[in-house]
Amino acid sequence: MKKRQDATAPQSSIVNSFNEWDPLEEVIVGVLEGAAIPSWHITLAATMPESQQDLFRQRGGSLFPEELIRRGAQELEEFVHILEAEGVKVRRPQPINHARPFETPAWRSEGGVYNAMPRDLLLVVGNDIIEAPMSWRSRYFEIDSYRPLLKEYFMQGARWTSAPKPQLLDELYDFSYVESEDPDNPRFVINEFEPTFDAADFIRCGRDIFAQRSHVTNRFGIDWLQRHLGDDYRVHLLDIRDPAPMHVDATFMPLAPGKLLVNPERIRELPKMFSTWDVLEAPKPTIPASHPMFMSSTWVSMNVLMLDEERVVVERQEEPLIRALEDWEFKVIRCDFRHVMSFGGAFHCVTCDVRRRGPLRSYF
Ligand code: ALA
Repeated sequence: MKKRQDATAPQSSIVNSFNEWDPLEEVIVGVLEGAAIPSWHITLAATMPESQQDLFRQRGGSLFPEELIRRGAQELEEFVHILEAEGVKVRRPQPINHARPFETPAWRSEGGVYNAMPRDLLLVVGNDIIEAPMSWRSRYFEIDSYRPLLKEYFMQGARWTSAPKPQLLDELYDFSYVESEDPDNPRFVINEFEPTFDAADFIRCGRDIFAQRSHVTNRFGIDWLQRHLGDDYRVHLLDIRDPAPMHVDATFMPLAPGKLLVNPERIRELPKMFSTWDVLEAPKPTIPASHPMFMSSTWVSMNVLMLDEERVVVERQEEPLIRALEDWEFKVIRCDFRHVMSFGGAFHCVTCDVRRRGPLRSYF
């Protein structure tokens, strides 16, 4: 296989990020304005909290209530201020009203979702910014909000890649999907009809990238990414026990070289290469059961963002996690984020690294 010429992009490259912890210089932070309730589809049956499924069935395609968006957007502003005060340049996608139906020749969606979670959609590896081939029909045009930024980064020297745009025909989905009774033998709602993945099913540790097979990411998608990245990178499949896998960053979070935060309920066996790393099991989330979680579990508590190998942004009320990270010698920056978390993610999900200062390295 031909080696990519630009795997070690010059430090001056506008887009440059190889891992989750090098000093963060520029980042995209999502927006909540225009966020719509996803319209019903079998993929939601596999991944969304059961308590919310009636909402998707009944109100999919309409805007989330204004007050919820307003409170989440306020927290996002607080987060942006923190990042800027810490010296990070922040960029935002264009807000779009997602409560508008659209269709392709093969199917129709009653609306989009949001531009709150750029990590789901965009994967930066080196100077390459890659649009993920997402498997939810409602997310088909989500990229449009980011096009002005992508064009700008390209003109400043970044690589700009869109993985093969999937067709998302009925053939991709298992419409008879029900959760497998055997957790060691999971069933997935998508098959191998065509490559699909969400960027958030990948975590970068320099030359080694860790992936989970999920209800949005298939083997075909993981193989596509490995071949696209070439021999400079090794994509490893994680062994995870999760009946609703979608986005690995509430399951497996490398925080710095030698330091890995894991979800104690989900990791079956760590890759042997982590035997020399310190592993911290994330304390249980503190979010009460009464708090609305429309699109994820409360484990987004461990969805933290590293500003460098020491500074980490954590939800203000996650005291057990904050204490554990401080004991581990991290400098914790607290930020209110519970209303954002209701929309399915926290600090890692709502961001996409544009530039971290550091070269491509092997950490194993
Ligand atoms: N899908 C992940 C969870 O719900 C983020 O924990």
